[in-house]
Amino acid sequence: MGKVIPFAAQILFGALFLLAVPDDCLATGDAVAGRNKAQPCLTCHRKGNVVLGEKTPIISGQYQDYLMKSLSDYRSGVRKHQVMNELSANLSDKDIEDISAYYSGLNSRLSDSTHENN
Ligand code: HEC
Repeated sequence: MGKVIPFAAQILFGALFLLAVPDDCLATGDAVAGRNKAQPCLTCHRKGNVVLGEKTPIISGQYQDYLMKSLSDYRSGVRKHQVMNELSANLSDKDIEDISAYYSGLNSRLSDSTHENN
């Protein structure tokens, strides 16, 4: 019996620790799969200025949860933009997670005014 209580205490402590981990540490997504899925996006969101010029936002290095929220909102129509609404219409939750993992892992070019690599 002597060892049962500490073991139970360990489990309890572990559970409390998991609850304490901030959400953004739990963000998942397969960046490698996301890279393939993001090919249609790169035209505008990596080599900016090519299609829509400065109106195309830089998303490389953006927080993953921000990207996931944006894409979900475009998909559901809560956020309106014709191109993005159409492009996100057929994305699954997993696609959104993977693509967001890919873009959030890229170097941010937010301070690069040339937009060469957004
Ligand atoms: C034809 C060019 C084009 C393509 C291709 C494109 N986007 Fe966009 N994207 C835009 C434009 C323009 C906006 C700004 C829309 C707005 O004002 O809401 C945008 C906005 C976004 C945003 C919101 C950025 C922010 O800062 O709020 C995300 C995220 C995004 N796109 C992801 C994607 C993904 C993922 C794909 C591929 C499935 C993709 N885009 C394909 C042009 C494009």
